[in-house]
Amino acid sequence: MVTDLRTFLEELDGIGDLKRVNGAGLEYEIGCIAETAFHRRGPALLFDEIPGYPHGFRVASNLASTRQRSLMAIGADPDTPEADAMRAWKARWNSYRGIPPRVVDASPLLENALIGEDADLNRIPVPVWHELDGGPYIGSGVAVILKDPDTGFVNLGSYRLQVHDGKTTGLFCEPANDGSAILRKYWDKGQACPVAVSVGPEPVVFLTASGSTGCPPGVPEYEYVGFLCNEAVDVIEGRMTGLPISAGSEIAFEGEVPPPEAESRREGPFGEWTGYYMITSVPEPVIRVSALYFRNDPILFGAPPFKPHRESYAFSLPMRSMTGLWSRLEKDGLPVTRVTDLVKMGAVVVSVDQKTPDDVPRIIRALQESRAPCRINILVDDDVNPEDPIEVFWALGTRLDAGEGVHRSTVQSAWRLDPLRTAEEREIREPIPYRRLILNGCRPFERMKEFSPVNRFSKERREATWEKWRLGDWLQGGR
Ligand SMILES: Cc1cc2nc3c(=O)[nH]c(=O)nc-3n(C[C@H](O)[C@H](O)[C@H](O)COP(=O)(O)O)c2cc1C
Repeated sequence: MVTDLRTFLEELDGIGDLKRVNGAGLEYEIGCIAETAFHRRGPALLFDEIPGYPHGFRVASNLASTRQRSLMAIGADPDTPEADAMRAWKARWNSYRGIPPRVVDASPLLENALIGEDADLNRIPVPVWHELDGGPYIGSGVAVILKDPDTGFVNLGSYRLQVHDGKTTGLFCEPANDGSAILRKYWDKGQACPVAVSVGPEPVVFLTASGSTGCPPGVPEYEYVGFLCNEAVDVIEGRMTGLPISAGSEIAFEGEVPPPEAESRREGPFGEWTGYYMITSVPEPVIRVSALYFRNDPILFGAPPFKPHRESYAFSLPMRSMTGLWSRLEKDGLPVTRVTDLVKMGAVVVSVDQKTPDDVPRIIRALQESRAPCRINILVDDDVNPEDPIEVFWALGTRLDAGEGVHRSTVQSAWRLDPLRTAEEREIREPIPYRRLILNGCRPFERMKEFSPVNRFSKERREATWEKWRLGDWLQGGR
């Protein structure tokens, strides 16, 4: 079985990486505790005894916010070092073979099935996650399930969902996402789009729906989860829509999304993973809820974004764009050894093992044309640790020619959450120009041999000395 949320929490508990908090309120205690734990690299959190709700109606948070927890969630060894995890990940990514989901009849999710009038989202405790949020958000740790009406392709995505009332949520889906393309197919015919939402799916399903496990475009997310777990995901068919809902879900609801001209509501603001609130007055589509399901003692999966820090793994495994960018550069025969997002969607570092004088110029050209939304791209030689901002800035401060080494390009981007967009630009759903900077922090190829040697002992001598003098007995942090 693909590990469900409560089994995952038990596993975390077993290794002392889960903190239970009783009695915290939905406004704003749960959110503030979750944010503080996130910034202090604290444990996963499980809130119970939530005022106004029965004992056992719980909220979990901070679940995939460290590398260890993210790796555990996808069934990988949590102690794998960062660089190895990325390499192993990419190798796996390139050997994709999907396993379709398996339809089953029974699921604990059906222990409580509230259909039609009885479906009331207020039965579920939903926190207001950030101080300036426009309301409670049931959608953060979710998989929103949509089916292409022409091809039957089933898409999963994580889109934020604000609870407007017991029967209505908002739906904020970026225009470039696959989910938006499916919604538009229905709306163009004046029809409402059927939808199912798993709130608290199996963690690997959430990570895949949210683009955090590198599911390539055009690949159905359930099949990708099957590939990751080496077994089919069990799904039940929703009673109202027939859409496949993962059977291990804690909570789920079904409904439809009317065309925005027929019904839209203002939603937000919501604290974003860019580290800002997007303040906009644009009405967004809504989900009209027709059925609610939950397990006994349900657990809401909260994955609210917080202002990122260096080890922000909330959506932690390589983002699709980064894995895709790396593979594209490699396919072009470019000697790229790592692609790392130093700041999510903000700064990407490309490590280069220069072999010819053309390598760096070719990589720069490829980055100029790349569609990955990222404002700053930095090239470094592979003697620099791309994970360490100080090392990256050391390389820039000592190897960047601030004339010839600085490049710019303009691409088209539909990324509405871009904090640099003006209030008017946030209302535009079509792609608009997006400018990016490329900084060449590599040593000039023609001077590689004579370039000043780096003032550090060689790796071999350091390792031998470490062993002989047993430096690990009194020094932290490894050799
Ligand atoms: C915690 C979290 C919240 C997210 N919230 C949103 C959101 O509100 N709207 C959105 O369009 N994408 C959001 N994303 C990103 C999408 O889920 C991601 O791009 C996904 O790959 C989209 O899937 P699709 O292209 O199949 O529709 C979020 C990602 C994470 C990790």
